[in-house]
Amino acid sequence: MTRPRAIVTGASAGIGLAVSERLAGEGWDVVGVARRFTGEAVAPFARTLSVDLARADGVDSFARSLAAEERGVDAVISCAGVGRFAPLESLAIDDLRHVVDLNLIAPMILARAFVPLFKTRRRGDFVFIGSEAAHIAGPRGTAYCASKFGLRGFVQSLRIECAARGVRVSLINPGMTDTAFYEGQAFVPGSEDHQHLRAADCAGAVALVLNAPPGTVYDEINLSPRTRVIRKT
Ligand SMILES: NC(=O)c1ccc[n+]([C@@H]2O[C@H](COP(=O)([O-])OP(=O)(O)OC[C@H]3O[C@@H](n4cnc5c(N)ncnc54)[C@H](OP(=O)(O)O)[C@@H]3O)[C@@H](O)[C@H]2O)c1
Repeated sequence: MTRPRAIVTGASAGIGLAVSERLAGEGWDVVGVARRFTGEAVAPFARTLSVDLARADGVDSFARSLAAEERGVDAVISCAGVGRFAPLESLAIDDLRHVVDLNLIAPMILARAFVPLFKTRRRGDFVFIGSEAAHIAGPRGTAYCASKFGLRGFVQSLRIECAARGVRVSLINPGMTDTAFYEGQAFVPGSEDHQHLRAADCAGAVALVLNAPPGTVYDEINLSPRTRVIRKT
């Protein structure tokens, strides 16, 4: 029997790596996409591709050649993302562009390349990692919240466009998750088990979406640590 195949962005670390490990453990072939793969991060992958998805000018050609090469892919899971948190006037224009290009434009361009394939085959899953910041804005989050609110709107519209052609579109919105996302930030989640999610929790939500019966779509899953604690660093 042919193994299902998934493309996972942001696959070298954090949530994307946990998703890749979970899917590989469930018998999927995983094509990992990130800027660099090192050491153990290579283990779960059938193929790795090093690309900078924040370079908006190069993402379209990357996405179109990937869609041409990977015609057997069953799922595209967009995890790559970054946070830049500061008052708006302290964020450089390059920061604004970087956050929006990576968190919003790149997943849109990647999905755009695979939609025709999925619609023709009348099946396929798009899964996007959003954030609690797709629902609730906070201070210092102008760029990040704009990217995640935008992603949520994109996902809702794409779901409507694709549903009649058998394609499912889902959004996973984690709360604070213990990953390298917070490296260099002025805050981190609480250290107690109930004060942060683990990347594996988010991977579990992705598996739930992909393993649903073909006629069932998880539109959106919100998951949070039981207790919301933000520690200043
Ligand atoms: N951690 C949280 O609390 C949290 C909460 C809600 C939502 N999220 C979302 O979850 C997603 C994953 O975050 P994470 O927590 O797993 O962060 P992470 O541990 O920092 O991982 C980020 C991943 O994105 C990749 N990446 C970063 N910049 C890239 C670029 N320019 N081009 C290609 N790949 C790039 C990184 O790989 P390379 O550095 O090798 O490129 C890495 O694989 C993001 O969309 C984030 O917004 C995170």
